[in-house]
Amino acid sequence: MLRSNTCGELRLSDAGKEVILCGWIQKSRDLGGMTFIDLRDRYGLTQLAFNMDTNADLCSTARKLGREFVLQVSGLVKERENKNANLSTGDIEIEVTKIQVLNEASTPPFTIEENTDGGDELRMKYRYLDLRRSNVRANLQLRHQVARYTRTFLDNQDFIEVETPVLIKSTPEGARDFVVPSRMNQGEFYALPQSPQTFKQLLMVSGFDRYYQIVKCFRDEDLRADRQPEFTQIDCEMSFVEQEDVLKMFEALVKYLFKEVKGIDIDSLPRMTYADAMKFYGSDKPDTRFDMRFVELNDLTKGKNFKVFDDAELVVGICAKGCAEYTRKQLDELTDFVKRPQVGASGLVYARVNADGTIKSSVDKFFDEAALKTWAEAMKAEPGDLILILAGKADKTRKALNELRLEMGTRLGLRDKNKFSCLWVIDFPLLEFIEEEGRFFAMHHPFTSPKPEDIAIVDEMLQLQAENKLSEDCISPRANAYDMVINGVEVGGGSVRIFNKDLQKKMFTLLGFSDEEAQKQFGFLMNAFEFGAPPHAGIAFGFDRLCSLFGGADSIRDFIAFPKNNSGRDVMIDAPSEIALKQLDELGISTKK
Ligand code: AMO
Repeated sequence: MLRSNTCGELRLSDAGKEVILCGWIQKSRDLGGMTFIDLRDRYGLTQLAFNMDTNADLCSTARKLGREFVLQVSGLVKERENKNANLSTGDIEIEVTKIQVLNEASTPPFTIEENTDGGDELRMKYRYLDLRRSNVRANLQLRHQVARYTRTFLDNQDFIEVETPVLIKSTPEGARDFVVPSRMNQGEFYALPQSPQTFKQLLMVSGFDRYYQIVKCFRDEDLRADRQPEFTQIDCEMSFVEQEDVLKMFEALVKYLFKEVKGIDIDSLPRMTYADAMKFYGSDKPDTRFDMRFVELNDLTKGKNFKVFDDAELVVGICAKGCAEYTRKQLDELTDFVKRPQVGASGLVYARVNADGTIKSSVDKFFDEAALKTWAEAMKAEPGDLILILAGKADKTRKALNELRLEMGTRLGLRDKNKFSCLWVIDFPLLEFIEEEGRFFAMHHPFTSPKPEDIAIVDEMLQLQAENKLSEDCISPRANAYDMVINGVEVGGGSVRIFNKDLQKKMFTLLGFSDEEAQKQFGFLMNAFEFGAPPHAGIAFGFDRLCSLFGGADSIRDFIAFPKNNSGRDVMIDAPSEIALKQLDELGISTKK
């Protein structure tokens, strides 16, 4: 070993010891008589001290060393005169007797300290330097802990980690595939897995019983703070189980992770149906750290000649506690907020419940005090509260009010990153109608089982489809599908699977696949179901999302060692990039005429 100790471990009790440390120069301070260097490695910082009076040569050498030089130093551990309580090694310093420069370094493009002067793009270009910063490194250490405890938990529950292939055939998860051309089969392409969904189901047919994998998945979709083109799942599947067993097992996993990684005890996860989540929060991933539920006001608002309400399919509001004093400017800001294209409302109606109990609204012309009092009662609004109301098409209005609710939650400081509110959202619709495509799609994926009590609806829909009468007005059967939601983030989702080949065939038909297409795309799975498929169910967690929640960050990028930017680029290695014509020729996809 080139060192006797790390830069994070020496304490006062080590005073008097001869040690050898290795690391990078984070900072140096030249105070004339004394020079100090902060030496950094993965474990921490240790102060090196050089005294001009006692060792002028060494001190002069030290003064010439630049930031990020790699050093090996020998010296004596001494108690510091000026202790630094913010540093674990802050009670000691090393009186250096020998320096060896292991490597020199160019001046780094940004300061490598917790608070850096480097902008996002620059730090991504030099990600290996960014990763030297203690807070960035701590994120990856946390990620390692989450993976480690996940493995421990699942191992203890008899899950087996099995690797599934990366060069596969497209999986129907809903996003676009990344594709890889095949040199040996020209004109044909592999797809990178959006998830190992079909493989984990095949492993159940193989009798593996309990499978998991911490696995890379790839989706060519628009990127956001919580989406990367390649991301990691904790992917799991179990045989001979029902929905309840899966919910219990993975609730236990998440509680275990909170306890081991964060030291937090989580209560049993409440369950909310998809229908209630949409009705009360306008979202299938409600942030339940705060209440502010939707209250529907159709009955109390119609027929007063206010056209916006009279024409609306839904009039719905929230009560913002203690906001009656909002200024005109603040209310205008909220109106602008809901009118932004991303939110999509046409306007905002408000009513202040004043401290003296009187109510003033932005629609006083149409609604007298008595009418407004009925709103306040329905919304449980008290003196000092502000009622905010949106109206329009039901789905769109709920979505817009969800955005407003989250905005108010943020403004009121109700979305504390150190508070965690977890729940299951259950009973998702099996199908959703996609307007642009003019047909139904599987909301989760085509292998998800309808609720047994709703199978009759599948048959009715098939009948309608045969008669060419299937329309978006058809109400979807409910699925045995579930999502785990923490603080408004969908951290995981799964379902009970169809394991009967006839039902699976029906589903493909309903989704618009001809028998031939279904056979071509999913024949391998349907054939496998001919050979004794057990009842099975599973779930996949977004591992990056779980880590960023634990770390209290908004973006999953902070928890990925080498992430892509929002245009899907790795600016460090400069990918994607063009490839040589020769390579294209070999692959048979040359654009050369
Ligand atoms: P689903 O598509 O819901 O289910 O994905 C599971 C979880 O993966 C995370 N996730 C992502 N994280 C980061 N970037 C992305 N682009 C991204 N896309 C998804 C989410 C999500 O909840 N095969 C099924 C699971 C199953 O049925 O067992 C599946 O992949 O946290």
